[in-house]
Amino acid sequence: MSLGVRGLHAGYGRLAVLHGIDLTAGEGELVAVIGANGAGKSTLLRALSGLLPLTSGTVHLAGTDVTGYGPEKLARTGLAHVPENRLVFPSLSVADNLVLGGYTRRRGPAAARKEARDRAMALFPRLEPRLEQAAGTLSGGEQQMLAIARGLMAQPRVLVLDEPSVGLAPRLVGEIFSALGQLRDDGLTLVVVEQNARAAFAVADRVSVMDRGRVVLEGDPAALSTDPRVAGGFLGGGFAADADAGADAAGAATPGVASGATRATERT
Ligand SMILES: Nc1ncnc2c1ncn2[C@@H]1O[C@H](COP(=O)(O)OP(=O)(O)O)[C@@H](O)[C@H]1O
Ligand SMILES: [Mg+2]
Repeated sequence: MSLGVRGLHAGYGRLAVLHGIDLTAGEGELVAVIGANGAGKSTLLRALSGLLPLTSGTVHLAGTDVTGYGPEKLARTGLAHVPENRLVFPSLSVADNLVLGGYTRRRGPAAARKEARDRAMALFPRLEPRLEQAAGTLSGGEQQMLAIARGLMAQPRVLVLDEPSVGLAPRLVGEIFSALGQLRDDGLTLVVVEQNARAAFAVADRVSVMDRGRVVLEGDPAALSTDPRVAGGFLGGGFAADADAGADAAGAATPGVASGATRATERT
């Protein structure tokens, strides 16, 4: 299912944050949106998934205008949002977190819910032996895997993820991104927002660069990674070295980015 965003403006009260975003993800495409802390990436994903009203602009899913749909209706249409900071329910078991992820499909066939769960377990085999464990006792990487698995329980055809690499060691970032690549290869459409440009470039089909509420560059990762504006301004560490890139996470996220030319696929 394709995703199309045109001329999207959104913000908080009188604060305008997004100033006319255009973004397209074709069916089975993985599009990365990179940008510094505060660029508006999370705001874009919230607006896309119906959590924040648009000031103007349109959102289409598979060519259907879904502008103004609320989060639950969008979820039933096929869009799932994996929010930032891997918000799992810490006192609930891994299994119960997954059940909640399938909430919007509760009236659908049980076989489809089981298949979604089996596929998520196959993608993240670490979760299977931990199904009865409280989600809050998982490691950071496992919690991120659970957050993604929970999103998959909604049986989405478009999955949008907010900074899945934040705070994770490079090897785990590699594992997560290779799972996202697998989902794309299976035909899912993905939009991944990241400050970790290297991880995103290694797997994305296309990249959009956001700055202060606008898309300032877009293209295929090979071309963009040699673009002096990206190499100098972003891949050079401008982004991830951002001083207030999310309190506890920044320290852990930065070494992964600074580790040079290691490709995510080599870190798994
Ligand atoms: N809930 C909110 N209320 C008011 N302003 C917000 C809120 N969330 C984010 N902002 C502001 O919107 C801008 C973009 O933030 P955000 O979308 O979180 O950026 P990013 O995800 O790229 O770091 C920032 O200036 C931020 O302060
Ligand atoms: Mg954010």
